[in-house]
Amino acid sequence: MAKVILLSGSPNINGNTIQVFKKMAEIIEAKGVEAEVLSLAGLNIADCMCPAKIKNEDGFDLLVAKIKDAEGLIVGGPVYWGTMRGELMVALQRLAMASAQDNNFLAGKIGGPVAIGRRGGQTSSIQEALMFYLYHDMIVPGSTYWNIVFGKAPGEAIKDEEGMRTVIHFAENVANLIKKVYVQ
Ligand SMILES: Cc1cc2nc3c(=O)[nH]c(=O)nc-3n(C[C@H](O)[C@H](O)[C@H](O)COP(=O)(O)O)c2cc1C
Repeated sequence: MAKVILLSGSPNINGNTIQVFKKMAEIIEAKGVEAEVLSLAGLNIADCMCPAKIKNEDGFDLLVAKIKDAEGLIVGGPVYWGTMRGELMVALQRLAMASAQDNNFLAGKIGGPVAIGRRGGQTSSIQEALMFYLYHDMIVPGSTYWNIVFGKAPGEAIKDEEGMRTVIHFAENVANLIKKVYVQ
């Protein structure tokens, strides 16, 4: 079965990003595509451009294996001081290196970024993360607005009706496109 990984860059294991991603995962699964929410919380991913063959003890290899196996990749996290949280960008840069050293496994994967914040910086955050998708030959569907959700305390983001409507439609587009491209 085709699969989508939703990778959260939030340090909060039950925060807004995870809650939004769980809802998006439900939508993807309802379309008949498997979905798994993963979190960088507690992993302490090392900021290194290590060759893939060097084994790290920080759990990143497991993430790489799961992402490599999936047809879809959605990433996201909270806005911190106007930009995407650093931990997520470290993970994306490590992933880029792993893909470059392993037959460009990111190419053709379908997905895109989501940014969640209290008030500002979500659009610049998704623009930053989009650079990763477009460089790596990935396919990014649209939605009816940008993938930005507003909320501060855990539980607030899923109450942002317009933000949730946008990311839910994005999740539907990701699943529909995966079925068209990968499922006969
Ligand atoms: C250190 C820090 C910096 C933040 N900076 C911003 C910001 O620049 N813009 C914004 O809209 N929200 C900002 N926030 C709020 C978070 O993005 C918001 O609470 C988000 O919903 C948290 O998501 P999470 O629960 O998934 O971690 C900041 C929060 C923290 C802790």
